[in-house]
Amino acid sequence: MELLIFSCSPRSESKSNTSSIAHAFKKGFEETPGNKAEIYHLTKRNQWENYKELFKNSKEIIFALPLFVECIPGLMMEFMETLDPKEKLDTNIAFILQGGFPEANQLRTCEKYLEKLPSYLNCNYKGTLLKGNMFSLNLIEKSKEKNLEPFVEMGRVYGKKHCFEKEEVSEFAAPEFFDKKSLTLMKLSSPVSKLAWRYMAKMYDVEGDLKEKPFDKFVNK
Ligand SMILES: Cc1cc2nc3c(=O)[nH]c(=O)nc-3n(C[C@H](O)[C@H](O)[C@H](O)COP(=O)(O)O)c2cc1C
Repeated sequence: MELLIFSCSPRSESKSNTSSIAHAFKKGFEETPGNKAEIYHLTKRNQWENYKELFKNSKEIIFALPLFVECIPGLMMEFMETLDPKEKLDTNIAFILQGGFPEANQLRTCEKYLEKLPSYLNCNYKGTLLKGNMFSLNLIEKSKEKNLEPFVEMGRVYGKKHCFEKEEVSEFAAPEFFDKKSLTLMKLSSPVSKLAWRYMAKMYDVEGDLKEKPFDKFVNK
């Protein structure tokens, strides 16, 4: 099976978590003899004409994307809108959707949208692989390989089944919601996490107070 993977983050290839995940997935996918995957990055806008041709001529496609403000990145939306629907219903599209927050439920709205997206292009939907907690994937080199291993495994599975099955994805994406014990532990560790956020803010040269809520006045209460 020949698989075309579009990596849809606007971040550069070397920094993008999506890109690292796509490469891990490809590794597992290609372990099945006869399977071959190619990854293309939407950040290379000067290649979009070629990418449109690749889309036109491929029958098996995966779009890998990060969750941005609860939905798909603008860059991906823009690219999708340049694509012409297929003439025949003979192309399969699946998605790999990952985000920063750990609970899988916050990826579900975007998943609903992705379920519909292939039909707009006259393609079949073959499922969405979901995973949260990916904020620090590329930031912590020590744990990167370990955190990517489940994606290698899902690449192996996809390489054989050619789709993402709902139940398997839910297991992979867990937790759907934090349980009570985790929530209590989080509350107890909140002073530590506040320190961690302050440290991150300093790294990004944030000068304001972290408790500041500049948009509060626009929210109806
Ligand atoms: C502008 C922006 C918006 C984001 N919105 C969300 C969000 O709504 N939910 C979430 O879980 N993560 C969110 N994230 C975190 C990213 O999905 C996460 O860090 C992802 O691993 C980034 O992948 P990338 O490096 O390939 O862009 C956001 C990140 C950015 C930069």
